[in-house]
Amino acid sequence: MRFDIVTLFPAIFDGYLTQSLLDKAIQRELVHIHRHDLRDWAENTPHRKVDDRPFGGGPGMLIQVETTVNCVEAIEAMDPRPARRILLTPQGKPFDQRVAEDLATTDRIMLLCGRYEGFDQRVVDILQPEEVSIGDFVLNGGEVAAMVIVDAVVRLLPGVLGDENSNIDDSFSRGNRLLEFPQYTRPRTYRGHAVPEVLLNGDHKAIAAWREQQSQQRTQQRRSDLLRNDTDHPSSK
Ligand code: ADE
Repeated sequence: MRFDIVTLFPAIFDGYLTQSLLDKAIQRELVHIHRHDLRDWAENTPHRKVDDRPFGGGPGMLIQVETTVNCVEAIEAMDPRPARRILLTPQGKPFDQRVAEDLATTDRIMLLCGRYEGFDQRVVDILQPEEVSIGDFVLNGGEVAAMVIVDAVVRLLPGVLGDENSNIDDSFSRGNRLLEFPQYTRPRTYRGHAVPEVLLNGDHKAIAAWREQQSQQRTQQRRSDLLRNDTDHPSSK
């Protein structure tokens, strides 16, 4: 899978791309992540300016349409595979595990990270990206949201996690739309807190039943919205 990330701050991704699971996935060529500095497509001004004040007034600056369209089209031409275009914005559809699973089936994803007040609306009208939000809060830019999406998608790619099944039990995952059950490791007792007896006796049927019950209980207590009928879910529409 190939990601193309368009940003005004490519260095934000430096540490993130060289750590742990993601670094391994990159080394093993399971995923290719290309960062592109939007300023490289700026008109020939001394400061490589990419933004301007909004027509009609108002605070902040907008990223200009021409620079963005030129940039996206040039990047797309670098690889024959069509890219799924995603623009990160708090106005977008909510990102969740289902969206991550859907994206993990794609060959190529382009992530457009906004800054300031966002992009000129014609970026959306012309490029028709999917607009995606990672939550009902406003970040300083789309970069952190792009990292969230890369992280959630890459761990779903075959071969990335050590154990092929190790994301099946995850909260919200395909095999389990509930919150994950609690887990324990040694010691068996710490400060008077003992590991539940059922996990120690090797009865796999009883363990599975206990875990299922814990998942249900946690979900009911913390996120009863997840127990609604699947077809109510916005991303299943
Ligand atoms: N850019 C700013 N805030 C954002 C959010 N909540 N999700 C995605 N992109 C954003």
